[in-house]
This record gives sequence, structure tokens and C-alpha cells, in this order.
Amino acid sequence: MIIRKIVNEDIDNICELHLRSLDKNHFTSTFNSKLLVKYFQKLLRENKYSYLATEENNSSPVAFLIAGYKTNKAINEFIKENIAPVFFTLLRNPQFITEKIFELFRELFSVSKKIELTKLQLYLIEVDPAHRKKGFAKELISNFEKELKKDKVYYYGLSVRKTNVEAIKFYSKSNFEVENTNGTSIHYTKEIL
Ligand SMILES: CC(C)(COP(=O)(O)OP(=O)(O)OC[C@H]1O[C@@H](n2cnc3c(N)ncnc32)[C@H](O)[C@@H]1OP(=O)(O)O)[C@@H](O)C(=O)NCCC(=O)NCCS
Repeated sequence: MIIRKIVNEDIDNICELHLRSLDKNHFTSTFNSKLLVKYFQKLLRENKYSYLATEENNSSPVAFLIAGYKTNKAINEFIKENIAPVFFTLLRNPQFITEKIFELFRELFSVSKKIELTKLQLYLIEVDPAHRKKGFAKELISNFEKELKKDKVYYYGLSVRKTNVEAIKFYSKSNFEVENTNGTSIHYTKEIL
């Protein structure tokens, strides 16, 4: 397995991997390719811990991880800059409207907003379905944590949907601790030893 930083030239491959890895219960899985490229460009520009994994004999990424301090900022800016296409995608996929309204209210009224904004977030970790349970996510996390230690960061968090059973099993096995839960998500934290 080879792990390296994600560069701009990887974005098309990362978009394809994202569509293969997440089911249609995720709003971004309904984005067209142009909008998805913009989404990843923004995430990568604002978040310094971004890595992909390939097999030894093939340069196509089979897994990736994106983390940083500015995941919320990246998403908010992406929405502001692409308000029309995001809105029309929402109209074409009305099953997400209630969820997005709840998220907006949580964002506006969250008492823990300040804490969340200052904490480093692991925003995405995805492995191609054909390459799961082979240790790719574990290695990406291990590499990520080594980089954090180099920067003297020993603590980070993440959120996962309560319905994402596979990811919850993975986080439970990977020493994450539940910090709190809300209607749709579980928030985990991890201390790096
Ligand atoms: C969650 C996910 C990243 C796990 O990736 P993975 O490469 O299959 O995980 P690994 O092979 O590194 O597994 C690490 C450990 O977790 C366990 N694990 C991983 N997925 C599991 C599952 N579905 N059920 C039970 N255990 C699981 C492995 O058995 C392994 O345990 P071990 O250390 O005792 O051997 C992957 O299933 C995925 O991409 N899901 C879709 C995207 C997603 O939901 N991402 C999270 C939210 S952004």
C-alpha cells in the first residue's frame, strides 16, 4: 500500500471514488461531476491533512482521507459560491430538504459551535467497496495521526450519521470515543497516544 498527499491532479479520481464509496443517502453523491469537482477543490484547499492510498502496482486511488481545522468553513464557502446549483440539486432530490433545514438550524443555534470550529475534524474517510476490510482505512488513519503528532496535535474529532453502521463499527474498533449525539449524527473524538 502506498499513501501520499492528495494533489489537484487527483481530484477527478477522488470524485469517482467518492461516488463509488458512498450510497445515494449522502447529498454529495447526487452532485453532478462539475459541482463535485468544485466541492473537493474547496475541501482540499482549506484542509491540510489530505491523503490517498493506492495499491503497490496501481496508481489509481482506492481510499482517501480529508481532515483539517476548516471543514466547516470550506463547506459554508462552497455553498455560498455555488448556491444556485446546490439549490437545484436539492430540488431534484427533495429527500434531503428536511435534513438540510435541520442542519442549517443546528449551525445557527449550536451552543458547541465555537468548540467545533476550533477542533481538528476528520471530515471524510472513504474506501472503494472492492477494497474494504483490507486495512486501507486503518493505515490512512495511522499515517494521519503520525502527521498530527509531528505538528504536536494530539486530539481530533469527527461526525458520522447514526445510519452509517459500517463506519460506526470501524470507529468503535479504532479507539474513537463518543463525545455526544444529536438527532442524526454521532460525534466522536480521539486522543492520539
Ligand atoms: C468505514 C470504512 C472507511 C472502513 O474502511 P476499511 O478499509 O474497510 O477498514 P479497515 O480494513 O482499515 O478496518 C479496520 C478495522 O475495522 C474493522 N472494520 C472495518 N469495517 C468494518 C465493518 N463494516 N464491520 C466490522 N468491522 C469493520 C476491520 O475488521 C478492522 O478490524 P481489525 O483492526 O480488528 O482488523 C469503509 O467501510 C468505507 O469507506 N465506508 C463508506 C464511506 C464512509 O461511510 N466513511 C465514513 C464516513 S465519512
